[in-house]
Amino acid sequence: MTIDTGTGRSAAPLSRHRSVWEVRSESWIGLVDHLSQLAKLPPDDSGREGRLTKVQALTEALRPIEACWAYPGRRAFADLCAHIDRGDLALAAIAARRTHRTLASLTYRHEGTTPRNDADLPSQIESEQEYQAQLRCPYFEVLVVDDMPADEEESLHRHVRSERRADDDFVFDVVVVPTFEDALVATMVNFNLQAVVIRYGFPYRSIHFAELTMRRFFEGADVDGELLPESERGPLLGRQIARLRPELDLYLVTDVNVEDVAAKAGETFNRIFFGEEDKLELNHSIMQGVAERYHTPFFEALCKYAKQPTGVFHALPLARGKSIMNSNWIGDLGQFYGMNLFMAETSATSGGLDSLLEPTGSLKLAQEYAARAFGSRRSFLVTNGTSTANKIVVQAIVRPDDIVLVDRNCHKSHHYGMVLAGAQVTYLEAYPLHEYSMYGAVPIRHIKETLLELRRAGTLNRVRMVLLTNCTFDGIVYNVERLMLECLAIKPDLVFLWDEAWFAFARFHPVYRQRTGMAAAAKLTEMFQSEEYAKRYAEFARGFDEAAWADDDKVLNTRLLPDPAKARVRVYATQSTHKTLTSLRQGSMIHVWDQDFKDKTEEAFHEAYMTHTSTSPNYQILASLDVGRRQMELEGYELVQRQLELAMNLRDQVGAHPQLKKHFRFLTVTDLVPEEFRESQVESLYNMDTGWANLLKAWRFDEFALDPSRATLAIGLTGMDGDTIKNKYLMDKYDIQINKTSRNTVLFMTNIGTTRSTIAYLLGVLVKIARDVDNRVRDMSTPERRIHEKRVRSLTLELPPLPNFSCFHQAFRGHSLDGQSETRDGDVRSAFFLGYEDGNCEYLTMDDTAQAIKNGRECVSAQFVIPYPPGFPILVPGQVISAEILQFMQALDVREIHGFRPELGFRIYTEAALELAGQANAVWKAQINASAGAAEGE
Ligand SMILES: Cc1ncc(COP(=O)(O)O)c(C=O)c1O
Repeated sequence: MTIDTGTGRSAAPLSRHRSVWEVRSESWIGLVDHLSQLAKLPPDDSGREGRLTKVQALTEALRPIEACWAYPGRRAFADLCAHIDRGDLALAAIAARRTHRTLASLTYRHEGTTPRNDADLPSQIESEQEYQAQLRCPYFEVLVVDDMPADEEESLHRHVRSERRADDDFVFDVVVVPTFEDALVATMVNFNLQAVVIRYGFPYRSIHFAELTMRRFFEGADVDGELLPESERGPLLGRQIARLRPELDLYLVTDVNVEDVAAKAGETFNRIFFGEEDKLELNHSIMQGVAERYHTPFFEALCKYAKQPTGVFHALPLARGKSIMNSNWIGDLGQFYGMNLFMAETSATSGGLDSLLEPTGSLKLAQEYAARAFGSRRSFLVTNGTSTANKIVVQAIVRPDDIVLVDRNCHKSHHYGMVLAGAQVTYLEAYPLHEYSMYGAVPIRHIKETLLELRRAGTLNRVRMVLLTNCTFDGIVYNVERLMLECLAIKPDLVFLWDEAWFAFARFHPVYRQRTGMAAAAKLTEMFQSEEYAKRYAEFARGFDEAAWADDDKVLNTRLLPDPAKARVRVYATQSTHKTLTSLRQGSMIHVWDQDFKDKTEEAFHEAYMTHTSTSPNYQILASLDVGRRQMELEGYELVQRQLELAMNLRDQVGAHPQLKKHFRFLTVTDLVPEEFRESQVESLYNMDTGWANLLKAWRFDEFALDPSRATLAIGLTGMDGDTIKNKYLMDKYDIQINKTSRNTVLFMTNIGTTRSTIAYLLGVLVKIARDVDNRVRDMSTPERRIHEKRVRSLTLELPPLPNFSCFHQAFRGHSLDGQSETRDGDVRSAFFLGYEDGNCEYLTMDDTAQAIKNGRECVSAQFVIPYPPGFPILVPGQVISAEILQFMQALDVREIHGFRPELGFRIYTEAALELAGQANAVWKAQINASAGAAEGE
C-alpha cells in the first residue's frame, strides 16, 4: 500500500506511487469511511478534528488523480470538496459513497446508468444485464488538451452527451486537461483513454505536479516543451503521447495555418482540424478510429459463417455439431463446449472465410491489423505455436552452410530449425547464474568476439543471422537496440531473430516496448535515415579508423556504430500470443521488419510458411488471435501496467512478511543481472523515495534489464527443491500452476489475467507452505534435522557449476577460408542424421563415459540431451561430452532428461562413424573453399 488511508498521509507525489490506480481506489475507500463517521459524530466530539485532517489529506491526494478522468469529473469532485469545506458532511458522505461505488462497480461505463442518488446505487457489473450493456456499447474516454474555463468545459460535456445516438457503437466522455504536462500524466494514468484531441495554445507546466516529479515521471522526453512557441507545442505533445501509447488516436485542432501544420505534423496525427469548423467530423473520426481497432475481421467472418445454413459434404463430420448432436454417446462434448464452437468449425477455405495459406480477405486484414498493433511491417498468424513460427523464420532466412549465431539456451525449436536448414551453428554462451542453476542472457561483448573470430577466419561473409531469446524465461531482457547497432557495425547485413515467445505483451507498455525487436527496428530505421545520426556516425568514423577496426580489443571496448549507408534493418520476432495474451493455445505470430523482405525473403518465407503450416489450420485459434489483438489495442496498456504492479506487490509482500522472508526470497535485479551489465547501478526497481524512476533508468541504459513480472522465488531454505515445491505443494495441494523451476527456485509470472485475488491466494499458500516447513522442522529427530540441514546446504551453497558448450567434434566443425584452421561452428544437420543409422551409434553409461574420457576417447553425442529443468540442451548432436558436463549431469537430481536413458546411457557415435563423417567434412570443406574462391574471383 503506498497511501495510508487511515491517516490519509500521502505526501508522495504521483510518480512515486507503485500504483496510482490502487491509491485512487484506497483513497476513495478512506474518504467514504471518514466522511461516514464524521456525519454521525456530534459537533463537540474530540475525534472530529483528526478525521477532518485525514479527509483533507485524502482529497488532496485524489485531486491530481481525478483531474485525469472523465468520471466523476472536475465539477463533481469540486462539489464534493465544497460540501466538505462548508461542513455539509452528510451530503459529502453520500456523494463520496456514490462515486466510490460507481467507480468500483465500473457502472460509470454504461450510458445513462450513472445514479443520481444513493437509493439507486448500481449493482455489480457481473450482472448479466450490465455485462450485456457493456458488450453492446463499450465506453471510453477522450482526452482534450485545452486551457478552457470551467463553464466552457461543462458545455463541452453537455455537447458530447447530446451528440450520443441510440445506434452508436460506443459511448464516450471527455476529460479536459489544461497543460502539456497534465496531458502526459493523464495519458499514463487514465486507461480509459482511446483518443486525444490537442487544441491550439495551452501552457506547458502542470498546475498539479511539482516540476521535479514530472521530470522523473517522463525521464527521456526529448525536448523541453516550455521553450517552444505555442504553435509547436501541440505537435510535440502528439509525438510524446505517441511514444508513450502509440495505440491512441491523435487529433490536432489548430487555429493557425492548418495546411502548414498538416504538412509538418501530419504523420503523428490521425487528422488535423481547423478551429471549430469540423466538430461533427471530429466526433465521427473519434468513433471511427476506435471502431478500426475494435474491428476483428476474421472473428466477425467466423461468427457470420456460424449462423449460415450449410450442408457438409466434405471432411470434418464434427462441423456444425452434426456428428455430436446425432450421437447417443458423445453429447457431453457439445454440452461442455457449447454448440457455437462446432458451428464455427469448418474445413472450407473459400467463401466468407479466408485461407491462411493464401489470405486475400478477412485473414489478410487480420494480419494487417496485427502488424499495426504490434508495430511491424508485416505480421503472420501461426496456428502451431512459436515452435513452428521459429522454424518458419529460420527456414526462410538460412540457407545450407550459412553460419548462424545461436544462444545455446534457446528453445529446442531453434535447434531443430538449424538441423532442418542445414546451418553451421555457432553457439553463444549466456552468462551463468551458478547459485540458481540458471543462465542469464548473452553479453554483447561475447557476440562481438564471436563475429571477430569469424572475421579472422575469413568466414564473416557466411554469417547470416543472430538468434536470441528476449526476454528469457526468467525475465532477463536484452538492450535490443544497442545489440543490433553494435552487430550491424561489424556485419551490416545481419538478420536478427528475436524469440519473443514470452514477450508479446511488451509492445503495450512504454517501458517494455523499447526493448522489443519491432520497436528497436523502427527506431534504427528512422535513425539511419536521419541527419543527426549521419553526423554522429561521421564523428565516430573519424575517431575509429582502419587500424582501430583491425584491433580486436579496440572493437570490443568501443560502442560501435554502423554505417547508415550500409546497414540494413532486418528483424524478425516470433511471439507465443497464447503465452502472455488472450489466444487459444498454439496461437502465435511472426512479426517482420525487414527492409529487404521483398527483394530477398518474400518467396522463401512463403515456401517456409507452406512447409510448416497445416493445410487444416484451426479457425478458432485464428479467431482468438484476432480478438487478442483487439484487446491489446484497446486495453493493453492498462493490463500490462496492472501485471507489473501486481508483481511488485507480490515481491513487496513476501519481503515484508516475517514468516515468508524466513524461507523465501524473490530474486532481484542484483541477483540476476551482474553489476558489469548494470550501467545504471540500479539495485531495486521500485521504492517509495524514487518511485518507478529506477525501473525507467535501468530499462533505458542497462545492457540487461529484469522484467519485474517474472518473479523468481528462491526456495532453498525450505530444504525442498523446485520440482518438489511445484508438484507436491503448488500443483497437487493448492492447484497453483507454474511453468518453470530450477533446483532452488520457482518462477511465478504475473500476466494480463492476474488479479489482486490471485496474488492474495498465492501469498496465503506460501504462508501455509512456510508454516508446514516450520512444523516439520520443529518435529524432526536429531538425525532427521541433520539430513534437512544437509539438504538446505546442498540447495543453497553446493550447486553444480553450469557447464559451457564444450565444442563440436572436428568431424562436424567448420573451418577458416584458407582451410588452415577449424572454427567453432558445427554442422548439426550432418551430425543429427548420422545418428539415424543405428550402426553408427553405441550406448555408454555415465560411468563408462567418464572412464572413456579419462582414457582419452572423444565421446560425441548423437542426439540432443535436454534435462528439465533447466530445459536447455546440455548436449547437441555432434558435441563432445566433457568432464564438466558429466559432473553437472551427475549432480542434477531431476527426473526428466530427454535424450538420455539411464539404463542405457548416452547415445554416442562409434569411432568408425566419426571417421566417415570426418572424410565427408573434408570434401565439404574443399567445396566451400572452391566456391568461396570462385566468388572472390568474380
Ligand atoms: C523461448 C521459447 N520459444 C519458443 C517456445 C515455443 O512456443 P510454443 O509453445 O508457442 O510453441 C517456447 C516454449 O516454451 C519458449 O520458451
